[in-house]
Order: sequence, then C-alpha cells, then structure tokens
Amino acid sequence: MTPILSIQDLRKSYAGGFEALKGVSLDIHEGEILALLGPNGAGKTTLISTICGITTMTSGQVSVGGHDIVHDFRAARSMIGLVPQEVNLEPFEKVWNTVRFSRGLFGKPRNDALIEQILRKLSLWDKKDSTIKELSGGMKRRVLIAKALSHEPRVLFLDEPTAGVDVELRKDMWDIVAELKADGVTIILTTHYIEEAEAIADRVGVINHGELLLVEEKSALIARMGQKQIEVQFGEPLGAVPASLARHGLELGQDGQSLIYTYDTQAERTGITTLLNDVAQAGLVLRDVQTRQSSLEDIFVGLVSDRKPANRPGEMQ
Ligand SMILES: Nc1ncnc2c1ncn2[C@@H]1O[C@H](COP(=O)(O)OP(=O)(O)OP(=O)(O)O)[C@@H](O)[C@H]1O
Ligand SMILES: [Mg+2]
Repeated sequence: MTPILSIQDLRKSYAGGFEALKGVSLDIHEGEILALLGPNGAGKTTLISTICGITTMTSGQVSVGGHDIVHDFRAARSMIGLVPQEVNLEPFEKVWNTVRFSRGLFGKPRNDALIEQILRKLSLWDKKDSTIKELSGGMKRRVLIAKALSHEPRVLFLDEPTAGVDVELRKDMWDIVAELKADGVTIILTTHYIEEAEAIADRVGVINHGELLLVEEKSALIARMGQKQIEVQFGEPLGAVPASLARHGLELGQDGQSLIYTYDTQAERTGITTLLNDVAQAGLVLRDVQTRQSSLEDIFVGLVSDRKPANRPGEMQ
C-alpha cells in the first residue's frame, strides 16, 4: 500500500545553524493514528510545521497523497489540516467567520451545513457569533480544531491539541479523532499526555534531539519493551532476600515483607514456577501475589533518558 504521507531523510537547520531535524524518515498509512512523543524541544513542532509548509526544509523529501510538498505545494497542502500548538486566531473576528473563511482559503466551495456540523460537534455552536477575544483558552483551542476540519482534510496534524484543556474537551477530541479515523482520515498528533497516546494511537513514534528513535505499533511496543514484575508478599518481615533465593535476582519490597521479581514478557521461560517452588522450599508462607506491567510511560521515560524503566519498580503502575 502506498503511504499517504512519506517523509524521507528530512533535515531542518534553523538560521544560526541549529539542527532541529537530523534526517527523519517515516511512512504513514491512510487511516492510521500516529502519536509522536518527545520531550520539549525534541523537534515535534518543527517536523509538523515542515510537512505543513510553514517552515521550509533544509533537505529531504516529503509527499502527501503522492504530492511533493515543495513542487506540488497546493495539492499537498489542500489535503492537510493543522491544529497548531500556538493559538493564532484573529481576536476581532467572529467564530463563524473564522471557520468559514478558513475553508475558503483552501479553495473549497462554501458549505454552511458542514461548518454548522463541525461547530456543533465541538460545542461551539452557541458561540458562533462571539468574537475570538471573547472566548476562553479552551474554546479558542476548539476553534483551532474547527478551522483545521473546515476543509475536510485527509491528513490531520494535531500539535498538542489537548495541552491545557479540560477533561471534557480531551474526551471530545478523542471522540472526534475516532470519528475521523472511521472516515479514513489519517491523524498525526503530538502529546505530552502519554495516556492519550496509549488510548488513541495505532502507532507511536518517539523523537528526541531531532531524531526519530523508534516508530512501532503501540501494542507491539508495550509487549516488546515492557517488563513484568511479580511481587510475592509474606506474612512476616524478611529482613533481607533469603540466601536460598539469591539466584532469582530478587529485590526486597519497601515494606520488607515482600520480594519483587522482574521478568521479560518475551522470554520463553519466565522463571515464575521455579521461583515459587524455591519460595515453598525455603519454608516461607505466602500471603499474596501481585503482577504489574510497565506502561508506555515507563518505556518512554526509559528511551528519552538514560535510565532503564524496568529498574524502577516503585514507579511502575
Ligand atoms: N524558529 C526557530 N528558530 C530557531 N530555533 C528554533 C525555532 N523553532 C524551534 N527552534 C528550536 O528547534 C528545537 C525543536 O523545537 P520544536 O518546537 O520543534 O520542539 P517540540 O518538540 O515541538 O517541543 P515542545 O514539546 O516544547 O513543543 C528547539 O531546540 C527549538 O529551540
Ligand atoms: Mg511543539
């Protein structure tokens, strides 16, 4: 299948020589939701701005729906919707006009019924005659989303669409994303809320220092990088890991009454049966057993810092 968005060796150096993108290559398929994760300054907005033609690339090739974003700019751009990270609306314009004019800018014929539908979906209908400056911050974010949807894009970029918005808008946004996906729209979003990526993305990309560290199916990523832990609780304090259990590489739990065993979910043998046998042999009385799996957040923190996530048992969910 031909990707709807193809990025090849994309590089961007800002004036002054700072290299914000160091050769990013990525293919995105139609109808997929990709979440881009990365710390502040990683290059997420630069990547999106470059694809959307707001920033010019230093080198590389990008095509949207087969249209090169440089040579075939107009065709590529008409397929793209962008919800920018920064609010950039005209304060004295009315909500209705802001959204309607945006559709016109992309050369689409007037369609008031569609604009009404979008405004209703985003709970902005009763604000349609308000000027932008009369709106709250969250409402302005909704207008940005409405604008981006006004010309019915096939590829939608959401650059931190839920930063600083309330739970309701976040849920609305997730619903809108699900509806758009059902219509075959491709969505690329950046977020600092990892649970958001976990909830809605098909694939997850991690970017840091202008480099794409990985792009992988979310479920495969969690299965591949995730580690599981089993915590065995006892009825009385242990003081230390018993010598007869040393070979299992256990840690003593914080309360001193439990032992924590970390194992690889992909391994052929987890070692749990042997461990429990040895526990019984040692004459220890089991009170409870719990398991925990590392989350996308643990994996992400492990990738962008030098620490290994699975070695921080106390922080696992
Ligand atoms: N116009 C610019 N001129 C010079 N440097 C810039 C410019 N825009 C961004 N940068 C630099 O490029 C790097 C990447 O910035 P970018 O905005 O792409 O990061 P980001 O991943 O979107 O971060 P955040 O999560 O904070 O939004 C940063 O070091 C930033 O300072
Ligand atoms: Mg950004």
